[in-house]
Amino acid sequence: MRNKYLIIATALSVLLALLLFYAGWKFGASSSHADKGPDVAQVAPVPADAPPAGQQIDALRRGVPIDQEAPPPPMAHVENADIKRVRAYPMQPPTIPHAIDNYQVDKNSNRCLLCHSRANAATFQAPPVSVTHYMDRDDQFLATISSRRYFCNQCHVVQTDARPLVANGFRDIDTVIAEDKQGSP
Ligand code: HEC
Ligand code: HEC
Repeated sequence: MRNKYLIIATALSVLLALLLFYAGWKFGASSSHADKGPDVAQVAPVPADAPPAGQQIDALRRGVPIDQEAPPPPMAHVENADIKRVRAYPMQPPTIPHAIDNYQVDKNSNRCLLCHSRANAATFQAPPVSVTHYMDRDDQFLATISSRRYFCNQCHVVQTDARPLVANGFRDIDTVIAEDKQGSP
């Protein structure tokens, strides 16, 4: 009857293993929940006019169910106010403070450079493109605009009255520094 003891021993160890597994599963799950910390959504300040949280993941569909089609929102209006917008960070391409309808940029002509090239800037009282626009990829300065900066609209966009598609809590460095100074004694 040695078999009987063997079976009992095996059954007992299987039971023990199951118990340990269950305990580990329970304990592990509860402790990993505790580590998670506060919800990100609670920390980042969300602008008051941002779309409701439920729609943010799906900003393009604006919360409309996938089997329905919503009427398209009105197109954003291009602002033509000659007013520069603040850059969020130093190397941000500035937004274009004027309309650019029918400004042709192709292989043969570049309407933007009519005003923004170094040679013509004074005539049109336009800010000339900065020196980076004359640098090739090895940082060597060229006499004419670099081919990397030829298609202006690759980087520069007109200013519109479009609302942000998703809320964001971005604060630029000046705001951060100002808050830091307030906080310190
Ligand atoms: C008729 C001349 C003219 C043409 C053409 C023109 N611009 Fe301008 N641009 C200006 C002037 C003048 C300003 C200065 C602000 C103002 O008066 O609107 C300016 C301002 C800008 C600025 C803002 C620079 C800054 O420091 O904030 C950008 C960017 C710009 N233009 C890009 C373009 C692009 C891209 C094109 C071509 C699609 C273009 N411009 C075509 C005259 C022109
Ligand atoms: C690859 C991206 C890129 C392209 C293409 C590009 N720019 Fe820029 N532009 C920038 C960036 C980034 C800045 C700001 C930093 C700097 O000056 O390099 C800038 C700055 C400018 C400024 C402001 C200069 C100043 O001194 O403040 C003007 C005006 C401008 N660009 C016009 C143009 C025009 C006109 C074209 C097309 C001929 C053009 N850019 C093409 C990225 C680009």
